[in-house]
Amino acid sequence: MYVFVFRFLVDVGLSSLMLQMNDLTKLQELRVGTNIIQSMSLPPFMSTFKDFSLLDLHANNISIIKTDHTEAGLKALYGLNLSDADVLDGLRSIYFQEVYYYINERASEPISIFRCMINATNVLVKNGMIDEMEYVFFREIKELYLLYDHSGTLPGKQLSHLHTLEKRVIAHNIEPIRAGTFTDMPKLQYLDLSCNRMTLKRCCTTLLSGTPQIRYLNLSRNGEISLDVGGFDGLDSLEIRDFHHTRVVDMGYFSALSNLKYLRHLDVSYSTITFTNIYCFYGLRNLNVFKIAGNNFQGDVARYLFNNLTFLEHLNMSYCRVVELHPSSFRNLQRLRLLNLRGNNLMTIDFLAYPDLKQLTSLSQTSRSLICPLTPSIAPAPRQILFGGLSKIRTF
Ligand SMILES: *[C@@H]1O[C@H](CO)[C@@H](O)[C@H](O)[C@H]1NC(C)=O
Ligand SMILES: *[C@@H]1O[C@H](CO)[C@@H](O)[C@H](O)[C@H]1NC(C)=O
Ligand SMILES: *[C@@H]1O[C@H](CO)[C@@H](O)[C@H](O)[C@H]1NC(C)=O
Ligand SMILES: *[C@@H]1O[C@H](CO)[C@@H](O)[C@H](O)[C@H]1NC(C)=O
Ligand SMILES: *[C@@H]1O[C@H](CO)[C@@H](O)[C@H](O)[C@H]1NC(C)=O
Ligand SMILES: *[C@@H]1O[C@H](CO)[C@@H](O)[C@H](O)[C@H]1NC(C)=O
Repeated sequence: MYVFVFRFLVDVGLSSLMLQMNDLTKLQELRVGTNIIQSMSLPPFMSTFKDFSLLDLHANNISIIKTDHTEAGLKALYGLNLSDADVLDGLRSIYFQEVYYYINERASEPISIFRCMINATNVLVKNGMIDEMEYVFFREIKELYLLYDHSGTLPGKQLSHLHTLEKRVIAHNIEPIRAGTFTDMPKLQYLDLSCNRMTLKRCCTTLLSGTPQIRYLNLSRNGEISLDVGGFDGLDSLEIRDFHHTRVVDMGYFSALSNLKYLRHLDVSYSTITFTNIYCFYGLRNLNVFKIAGNNFQGDVARYLFNNLTFLEHLNMSYCRVVELHPSSFRNLQRLRLLNLRGNNLMTIDFLAYPDLKQLTSLSQTSRSLICPLTPSIAPAPRQILFGGLSKIRTF
């Protein structure tokens, strides 16, 4: 098939793209760099040019791009091949709402594309093949997403001092995340650092400081995190914290969380914790959802551990290898509605007789996916409950 390639080269002061090109329907490229063009508005008929794929506007005088300017040209800009990493510096004086920048090849030098986005409010880097990025002091940033399938890096290896960052930061597969990476971000509320293979000592003040408004912290699916006394100082606003499938060292030995009085949701499932201290959850008076599956309790620690968590509605302690629970283990838990004890080896369920459990509507037991809804009329003093997997059933 004959393809008509039209190259238009002008550097004699072209000021507009409104050219008489109606008949050039096979046009593929329009190169009009080094002119004085002020608007990238293309003639409307060009939207029917199916082969049009390249519009070179470098070194012109375009300072504003409006949506209606791009109707014909946007598809051509998509696929723009920028071989010079600094080329986006040309965007410095353009007021844009969104820029999507795709990188095809792994860069040999630190990427500097973010320099031109210093005023951006939302930045998303997805699967960028970026080994190194220079630190950019984003002046207006509110949300930052760094989502990689394989390992990627943080801009400038750290994100500190971004004073406007407030809504959220989500970063996956970042390596390495070092201590002090997230400091001095007074407005930050939401930080999701799940899935980063991170190893962190003396969490969490080593990772976060100067972030007094943080309410959501997700460190699940990481390597190993060790806690410290006072490790949550200055993070008093935390409401949701997720550590599941991250090995959390020392959590079972002392009460590291006692200042988290607003904490509503805590997930430490499969965190290789052995709870030895009954005060581990001291002070968590607003805790509502508690997922503690796949850990261990030493001796009869479970008898006291939950006693002051009076706001608890959802407790998942499945697969904790619990053989016995003292009848008063769930005393004071008057709001408890959902209790998951699946995958344990309980001999008795005396605790169900405890009068405080009057809200309990769902109890999951056995490893064979049996959920037995209990109506308030049979709790707290059910006459007989049939559970598979129990080696002994008592009636009350
Ligand atoms: C560039 O555009 C500005 C308006 O945005 C205009 O004032 C200026 O004269 C233009 N420069 C040239 C060389 O055309
Ligand atoms: C992009 O441009 C560079 C340099 O001009 C060239 O070597 C490369 O092949 C181009 N890539 C594509 C995908 O067109
Ligand atoms: C950012 O905004 C400031 C003023 O608001 C402006 O002077 C500066 O050129 C902008 N920088 C970029 C890279 O857009
Ligand atoms: C934390 O992140 C993991 C993995 O990205 C996700 O599955 C989980 O829902 C998040 N936890 C919360 C409480 O949002
Ligand atoms: C429960 O709260 C009481 C009263 O504040 C306190 O004396 C006790 O030590 C707490 N127990 C646990 C296990 O946190
Ligand atoms: C309880 O935890 C187990 C193990 O993590 C999980 O499979 C189950 O879906 C959880 N159940 C509820 C109701 O959260």
